[in-house]
Amino acid sequence: MNLRTPWWIRVPVIFLFVVVVLELVIDSGDQLTVVAYPITLYFLLLVLLLLIAIELVVHAIENVMFRTLSAEAQERYLLTKKQKWEWTWGKRCYKKLLGNRPIAEENEIVLDHNYDGIQELDNTLPPWWVYLFYATIIFGVIYLVRFHVIGDYTQANEYEQEVAEARQAIEIYRKNAKDLVDANSVTVSEEAADLNAGKKIFNSNCAVCHLPDGGGGIGPNLTDAYWILGGGIKNVFTTISEGGRDGKGMIAWKQSLKPAQIAQVSSYVLSLQGTTPANPKPTEGDLWVDEVERDKRKH
Ligand code: HEC
Repeated sequence: MNLRTPWWIRVPVIFLFVVVVLELVIDSGDQLTVVAYPITLYFLLLVLLLLIAIELVVHAIENVMFRTLSAEAQERYLLTKKQKWEWTWGKRCYKKLLGNRPIAEENEIVLDHNYDGIQELDNTLPPWWVYLFYATIIFGVIYLVRFHVIGDYTQANEYEQEVAEARQAIEIYRKNAKDLVDANSVTVSEEAADLNAGKKIFNSNCAVCHLPDGGGGIGPNLTDAYWILGGGIKNVFTTISEGGRDGKGMIAWKQSLKPAQIAQVSSYVLSLQGTTPANPKPTEGDLWVDEVERDKRKH
């Protein structure tokens, strides 16, 4: 029998093997290696081409050799080639697991009752079923000992662990997705990086109307404690994002600035509080007292 596997099994199996080895050898984090490093795709393509080339060369050699054979040898060769490829080991396993008695041996296991010609065979349970049954017994024993005798861990532990992991994931997500910030979640940032970024945004977009030192021009003074549209980070964020009152000239900056940028420039604007600009515009609006401080005064 021809034991050589046909090419349509050989090539994909070797190729898959290379892909798996690549995946195991190269550390690409959560992503697939081919996704994380697209260059590996070219490598895989090369491997595939090489495999195909080898197949072609082997086939060509076979052809040449065939021509050198005597007529009788050629015939023998063709005969062996014609035999169908079979996966004998797999077939044997399959038969064994089914455990069927061949029809020729049925008379050995036929039971001796006979109802109007209907007879019954005393077949054994199919081995695949019996093995599965044994497996469940082994599983059951291990489970019992592990969770009811030793008490490895409980569902509650599992739940808590998963929640903790999810919390961490949310934290990381929040950190990376700063643009998720809105008027409700925004907080004052005192980080130099945020304030510097905010200053840059302010100088290039806002200083024309509010002056570089925030003293005010077309727009109101941003350095005093008086606010037309409300002070505090949440109001300032809303004003910058949604704009001022109609016709006053303060546009809604959410069209051109990202939420993270609005948060940065809001923090920067608030950092101007209490500074003394060169030409301060007279105060407009109401004195803003922080909610926290207002509460303190009441008591
Ligand atoms: C075209 C001129 C103009 C530009 C540019 C401008 N503003 Fe204004 N800004 C105004 C005016 C006018 C008001 C007053 C709006 C009102 O009275 O409703 C204002 C109001 C504000 C207020 C509220 C002040 C208060 O007293 O409540 C803040 C905060 C503010 N601007 C920040 C900014 C920031 C940050 C930028 C840049 C991203 C900016 N502005 C760009 C004209 C401007």
